[in-house]
Amino acid sequence: MTDQTPKRDAAANCDGLCVSRRTALAISAGGVAAGWIIPESGAAAEARPQPQGAATELNTYPRKRVGSLSKLKDGEPISFTYPLEQQPNFLVKLGAPAQGGVGPDRDIVAFSSLCTHMGGNLRGRYRHDLKAIGPCPFHFSTFDLAKSGIAVHASATERLPQVRLEIEGDDIYAVGVNGLVYGFRHNLRDGTLASGAVLPQGPGGSQKTMRG
Ligand code: FES
Repeated sequence: MTDQTPKRDAAANCDGLCVSRRTALAISAGGVAAGWIIPESGAAAEARPQPQGAATELNTYPRKRVGSLSKLKDGEPISFTYPLEQQPNFLVKLGAPAQGGVGPDRDIVAFSSLCTHMGGNLRGRYRHDLKAIGPCPFHFSTFDLAKSGIAVHASATERLPQVRLEIEGDDIYAVGVNGLVYGFRHNLRDGTLASGAVLPQGPGGSQKTMRG
């Protein structure tokens, strides 16, 4: 097999949502050293090309309705974007209590769909028998969803970012994210606000946003 074949396969598995190697390398060169994120200078941030429609650099997480208790079924994940439209996630009822789980059985959880190793798209890879997601299509990482998304197999060493959830009546809301989404220097920057996400209102009634 030539070295180009796996690259084509990897791209096919992305569904357009994976972070490219070029993007990952750019992020590494600009801000990551020895596992720490180094904030870009203002000039570097200005010079970096922004995604089309790039908007908000938020200073707080928005709130977004992502499902309803009455319609959520055991083992049937629902996809949603949050907090930015460029960040895919999934919501799932595990059928067993989980760390960070919400709902009457504390078994409803949500996580980023982007593998923390190199951004492989985990969509469609939930294993209800294991309460886990994987193997990643790139290098086979698997994450335990009952234990805060800890990596339990293969290349990834970081937990899958877990979306914080709240229940209000029958509605399930995303209200924050624990962990940095793969390919982003900040979960709330360099993208557009996810469809349906609502920002908190400031003291004067205006939305809280921040740039730079
Ligand atoms: S990108 Fe998922 S294991 Fe490498």
